[in-house]
Amino acid sequence: MSNMEWIKRGNKVIMNTYKRFPLALTEGEGVYLKDIEGKKYLDFASGIAVNSLGHGNKTLIKALEEQMNKIMHCSNLYWNLPAIEAAEMLIQNSIFDKVFFCNSGAEAIEAALKLARKFGKKRHGEHCYEIITMKNSFHGRTFGAITATGQTKYQKDLNPLMDGILYADYNDFESVKKLVSDKTCAILLEPIQGEGGIRPADKDFLLKLRDLCNEKEILLMYDEVQCGIGRTGYLFAYEAYGVAPDVISLAKGLGGGFPIGAMMAVEKYSDLFGPGDHASTFGGNPAACSAAKVVLTALIQEGILENVKAQGAYLRERLNILKEKYTIITDVRGMGLMQGIELSLPVANIVELCIQKGLLLVGAGEKVIRFVPPLIVGKNEIDEAINILETVLKEV
Ligand SMILES: Cc1ncc(COP(=O)(O)O)c(C=O)c1O
Repeated sequence: MSNMEWIKRGNKVIMNTYKRFPLALTEGEGVYLKDIEGKKYLDFASGIAVNSLGHGNKTLIKALEEQMNKIMHCSNLYWNLPAIEAAEMLIQNSIFDKVFFCNSGAEAIEAALKLARKFGKKRHGEHCYEIITMKNSFHGRTFGAITATGQTKYQKDLNPLMDGILYADYNDFESVKKLVSDKTCAILLEPIQGEGGIRPADKDFLLKLRDLCNEKEILLMYDEVQCGIGRTGYLFAYEAYGVAPDVISLAKGLGGGFPIGAMMAVEKYSDLFGPGDHASTFGGNPAACSAAKVVLTALIQEGILENVKAQGAYLRERLNILKEKYTIITDVRGMGLMQGIELSLPVANIVELCIQKGLLLVGAGEKVIRFVPPLIVGKNEIDEAINILETVLKEV
């Protein structure tokens, strides 16, 4: 069957919530994917920053197979070993003290929002429930996460949203300060805005937020769902900045393609949740946690972070050269293997042309193209991607 035949079947039975490209992907190896018709694609989208170890990683598959043969699911009414081991790895390699496991980025954000509310009420009183987030942010699609998301285009038709979320301007400390009151329990932001157009925070902004949160005793919470787990060349984006949060949300790359999310808190706040305060049937799933163990091992012990730093710098250099040549590229920004180019025109057509030529890219807002390849990408593959992109840029 062809792509189009499958798409016809899909359209009949799957809700129309995505503007999908017309290809049905069936297999992958390394940084490449194939569709049902056997056409090969260089994957610089990684399922939107998910396939951190690329496709078909043998160690990941073996760990999942072995775990699935042992036990595939285990209720959180009991303990399972991979969850404890994955949590230990996250804790031993971070500033955090304890983990709550869930299944996605939005859930990791929900957990953080709930922790913030509980903190506010316990520490400062019933009136303390407001959470400040940033305009242009993206935190997910559940009601809490979509309220935290500072983009009205994602919120239309959903009113009333959650109460008590205020939006500040990203990288504008004064605009945050204006919103802070005795009602504020937390500030939530992405160290690098992803969906919002690959916009890194200024270090000075984060430093000032850190001081403000210390002074007022409110939580600083980072959404590292997209920029965490090696994307920046550091295990966590907060390390790249040297400005520590109190709470972090993770997902995407953590399972290397297997669904898992996590929320972590530093020691001072890690025992705020008690039994019954929060839960997830599948959270800490043994198969998902065994996948996370493989990803974390690869990043921490097998040189993947060094690869991200080296290839990230190379990708940036190649994009900067393109910017010199093509005036429609107005900016190149990002960190490590989370890079973006801003264009003076909408990018949808360019992304589509690249896909037709065998390069998977993804937009971030109307005028930004995102480059989030698997963290194992090499120089030759970056050259290949840039060549395809340049062919398209010459045409538009
Ligand atoms: C920064 C950020 N937070 C949260 C989410 C939501 O994650 P999920 O789609 O896994 O719910 C995303 C997804 O793109 C994201 O980029």
